[in-house]
Amino acid sequence: MKTIFSGIQPSGVITLGNYIGAISQFIELQNDYDCYFSIVDQHAITVPQDKLTLRKNIRTLAALYIAAGLDPDKATLFIQSEVPAHAQAAWMLQCIAYIGELERMTQFKDKSTGKEAVSAGLLTYPPLMAADILLYGADLVPVGEDQKQHLELTRDLAERFNNRYNDIFTIPEVRIPKVGARIMSLQEPTKKMSKSDANQRAFITLLDEPKQIEKKIKSAVTDSDGIVKFDRENKPGISNLLSIYSILENKSVEDIELSYEGKGYGDFKADLAEVVINTLSPIQERCKNLLESQELDDILDAGAEKAAAKANKMLKKMENAMGLGRKRR
Ligand code: TYM
Repeated sequence: MKTIFSGIQPSGVITLGNYIGAISQFIELQNDYDCYFSIVDQHAITVPQDKLTLRKNIRTLAALYIAAGLDPDKATLFIQSEVPAHAQAAWMLQCIAYIGELERMTQFKDKSTGKEAVSAGLLTYPPLMAADILLYGADLVPVGEDQKQHLELTRDLAERFNNRYNDIFTIPEVRIPKVGARIMSLQEPTKKMSKSDANQRAFITLLDEPKQIEKKIKSAVTDSDGIVKFDRENKPGISNLLSIYSILENKSVEDIELSYEGKGYGDFKADLAEVVINTLSPIQERCKNLLESQELDDILDAGAEKAAAKANKMLKKMENAMGLGRKRR
């Protein structure tokens, strides 16, 4: 069975973009692969976090993974900081990564431009992500479009390590979904939907109340011609809403366009809000129950143990390849 690794940052409550671009892929893949899914809390602290909020977001994200359909009997779910091998391997990979290639990452540029104090962790974020993936010998990494560049760097670092020291790493392939790889902001539809957007109306979180969802969709930026038609270039707002509708209802964009012929954006948006609410309500209900249960902690304990057992084997190989510590029998 081939191996999959992917992670989500607990830097806020996850959005519909994370659900469509990442979690729904994970759930589809868990039957056919040996899966490791992580709550990457060490990535989240590359920008300042309030400690109580972070703790809450970590546990909520774990619950949401399961509430959305991740089966802990099939996939291993764990918190990154509970498996120390990630930080240890990240250090070794930082030592073979070049500052120039890290500075070229668009996410680094986006998050650092115009900021007075930029943490070193923001720059060395991709080697930590590479460590996450390479420790598990992942063959495939399901992510949204925005992580593609980080995956290319991961492949470069793995090849560099293999050539320089010993051929121990699997070179991972990226898996980007054909539809929904880039769900856009509801307020600026040429920008991706992000949980760290300062404008709360730009994104829908998995825990938004029905009223909030209705409001956010109603105020989503569209255009003035009032025709429900997919045209990414000229009608990015309505195209984004059509994508969301199409994915959540499993209907083709053409069919949806047909059923709204002669109707305006008001009708379409009201129906889309219902679709989103119907998708999220059962997830929210399960999430609430899980958060109150001991079961969630048991799953995370077992996940960390299983992940550590696998990661530590690769960590040893890395240390041996680089000549760290002593040779042990
Ligand atoms: P993060 O936490 O920003 O996002 C988690 C996943 O959601 C996808 N995503 C989206 N997909 C579609 N539309 C959107 N608007 C949207 N926003 C986010 C992301 O592409 C991602 O798949 N660096 C990663 C976390 C990470 C990771 C890893 C991923 C750490 N280690 C190892 C894979 C493998 C990140 O910040 O994702």
